[in-house]
Amino acid sequence: MRLLTGQILHYTANPRKAGDGAVRHIEDGALVVGKDGKIAWCGGHSELPDAHAGLERTDYGSKLILPGFIDAHLHFPQYRMLAAFGKDLLDWLNRYTFIEEQRYGDPAVAAAAANVFLDELLRNGITSCLAFSTIHPVALDCLFKEASRRNMCVASGKTLMDCNAPQGLLDTPQSAYDDSKALIARWHGKGRLKYAISPRFAVTSSEAQLEAAGALVKENPGLLVQSHLSENHAEIEFVAGQFSWSKDYTDVYDRYGLLTSTSLFAHGIHLSEREQARLSEAGSAVIHCPTSNNFLGSGLFHLHSTAEGDHPVGVGVGCDIGGGMSYSMFDTLRDAYTVSQLVGSRISAHEAFYRATLGNARLLGTDGETGTLETGKYADLVVLDPAATPLMAERHALSGDLHDVLFALMILGDDRAVTETWVAGKPVKPRL
Ligand code: GUN
Ligand code: ZN
Repeated sequence: MRLLTGQILHYTANPRKAGDGAVRHIEDGALVVGKDGKIAWCGGHSELPDAHAGLERTDYGSKLILPGFIDAHLHFPQYRMLAAFGKDLLDWLNRYTFIEEQRYGDPAVAAAAANVFLDELLRNGITSCLAFSTIHPVALDCLFKEASRRNMCVASGKTLMDCNAPQGLLDTPQSAYDDSKALIARWHGKGRLKYAISPRFAVTSSEAQLEAAGALVKENPGLLVQSHLSENHAEIEFVAGQFSWSKDYTDVYDRYGLLTSTSLFAHGIHLSEREQARLSEAGSAVIHCPTSNNFLGSGLFHLHSTAEGDHPVGVGVGCDIGGGMSYSMFDTLRDAYTVSQLVGSRISAHEAFYRATLGNARLLGTDGETGTLETGKYADLVVLDPAATPLMAERHALSGDLHDVLFALMILGDDRAVTETWVAGKPVKPRL
């Protein structure tokens, strides 16, 4: 067991809706990590029960202790192919992504990649994620094996794609079904791992394959479903041509039973009112990936008009590596902020940090084990230093209240501001 002291910060609800009451902030805080890797106690240092007073202590001073960040959308096999000079989504996929992903049939490639990928997440304070893999079962085996070794809460699945991509990256409706079924049995619920049924997007699946995906969803109620939706205008046109009977892009997934209350669709930038209403009704969520949307020129996501109003849709945040430009949650939140400014409804730092922690945990269904600093959850933590660099220290000296501190952190921060990352009670930030 170990005692951590510092500033405690977590959220019990979305502060944009619930107000300041949702912000749990203790300036002189203490957190006890139990032998089981879970949070045994969390509160004011002065109220620490005597039973914990003699524990070995790590004092983080005035640094902030938060729940570890959760990234709700990124691609494990794209871990190194960020910063590829593609024209737009479809060009970028064809020119770089589909080439790189073909390497993942080789277990040596996938095993080495899993190691670097998870290291990079931890370096940035990301303790949990929902990730795409490739069509190759062995790639998912490697990712899950490595995540399991680190006791990380990771959700992923074998990618389903059987058309409109190079031969080396295609499965079939039958193999997609069979492989997914076997992988669900092998991995789902093993330790902290979750399986996600993963049709890549409507462009790369035939009707027969989407039907197979629907069968998997029906046979495994409650499992996560991940895909992409309405990211780019050319993509939307392609889908309308391929599924000419459909009302719109969302209707394609709907037809095959893929809109569930545990379905998470990356992007959702250009949804019609009808699509938003259908997603809202189904309880499906979209994941905002602002650095990717900016990089690929996909468009400006309207966060608040998607998440609020007559047809509210849950909104998570993700880096979408390698379409995204950075693993850093600060960069993801910074671009979410700048995009929100451009569309005229800015997000606060409290809302941003909520979405990167409990908000994403709720969408992934993992809020019972992570996302806040409540007793009984895993000690998945990130320790943040708002004065990590000379410039940040200068800016920090100007900061007034907590919101100001957090705002400067998300605008200026990078992995240097992540002092430590804890997964299930162990400090794990990789050192350079
Ligand atoms: N749509 C389908 N596949 C992908 C992908 O790999 N990245 C992004 N950004 N969008 C996609
Ligand atoms: Zn993606």
